Amino acid sequence: MNVIVFGANGQLGRTFQYLENDYRDEFQFHFYSSNVADISNVERLKQLKSDIVPDVVINCAAYTKVDLAETEVDLAYLVNVDGVRNLAQVFQESMIVHYSTDYVYHNECAMPLKESDPLDPKGIYAKSKLLGEIELAKYADNYLIMRTSWVYSPFGQNFVKTMLRLGKDNTELKIVNDQIGCPTYTFDIVKASMELIKYHYNREEKRTTEVYNFANEGTISWYDFAKVIFRFADVNIKLIPISSAEFNLIAPRPEWSKLNLQKVKNVLDTKIPHWLESINHCLSHIKANA
Ligand SMILES: NC(=O)c1ccc[n+]([C@@H]2O[C@H](COP(=O)([O-])OP(=O)(O)OC[C@H]3O[C@@H](n4cnc5c(N)ncnc54)[C@H](OP(=O)(O)O)[C@@H]3O)[C@@H](O)[C@H]2O)c1
Repeated sequence: MNVIVFGANGQLGRTFQYLENDYRDEFQFHFYSSNVADISNVERLKQLKSDIVPDVVINCAAYTKVDLAETEVDLAYLVNVDGVRNLAQVFQESMIVHYSTDYVYHNECAMPLKESDPLDPKGIYAKSKLLGEIELAKYADNYLIMRTSWVYSPFGQNFVKTMLRLGKDNTELKIVNDQIGCPTYTFDIVKASMELIKYHYNREEKRTTEVYNFANEGTISWYDFAKVIFRFADVNIKLIPISSAEFNLIAPRPEWSKLNLQKVKNVLDTKIPHWLESINHCLSHIKANA
């Protein structure tokens, strides 16, 4: 099967590149970073399709700067809404795998959030991600959406790497302790994505329009997660728990981001790792490649 991955230089895209060999028997990957294929450029997408008509399009491209989106509104919508619509319209013959966020729920119900729960995104990034989902559903008839949370990896920018960097130059750090959810490791997202693609391809009805939550198992606050990162990384630092209001973030974040994983678990053969196992793997990877 031919697979095109857009946004290949982001943390999820780079993880697909890293794990490509594991899927070589069945999948031939073609990776496009933003400078080679801008998903907001519909003519460029048509040109690419004239070279390869992929069986699967994996969209790792996104505008992900949650706070900056409040001022870069047009750019956030251009990538997260128009870009996704372009993919849906140009790659009509392909299955489109797309990623969205726990922020689309923003529902403080304190029960794990189900795919069917009401959606109430707050902030430009979250709103643009939901609109992207809506456009995909409107223009494509073969797609998978995976809503995930608190994504990290050994690659690119994320909370884990920020902690390791700040841990080098600081003796104490203030970390938010009133946002609860689950950090999700890109290696686990890639593995689950590939299983879902195979599952839907092997069914008699090859087309799908499913939305799945996907995160690692377990629940934690950013503050407790930071404590574990520093403990595993053997960094001695004082952590001070603070509220989101004290941290003064520009864009609103949900206090409750725990995703209900039952739907995806009904399909996956592989057990979803607990966040503790995955952060251990990520930190070992970073250490081994330092
Ligand atoms: N990060 C999180 O905590 C989080 C949480 C929940 C859901 N998600 C979702 O998970 C997915 C993957 O996130 P990630 O963390 O891997 O994001 P990321 O590291 O920020 O990567 C996004 C990639 O998209 C590329 N891109 C931006 N605009 C583009 C355009 N117009 N055309 C083509 N590529 C473009 C960027 O290119 P450049 O390299 O040129 O900037 C970057 O390489 C996204 O859909 C995101 O919304 C992320």
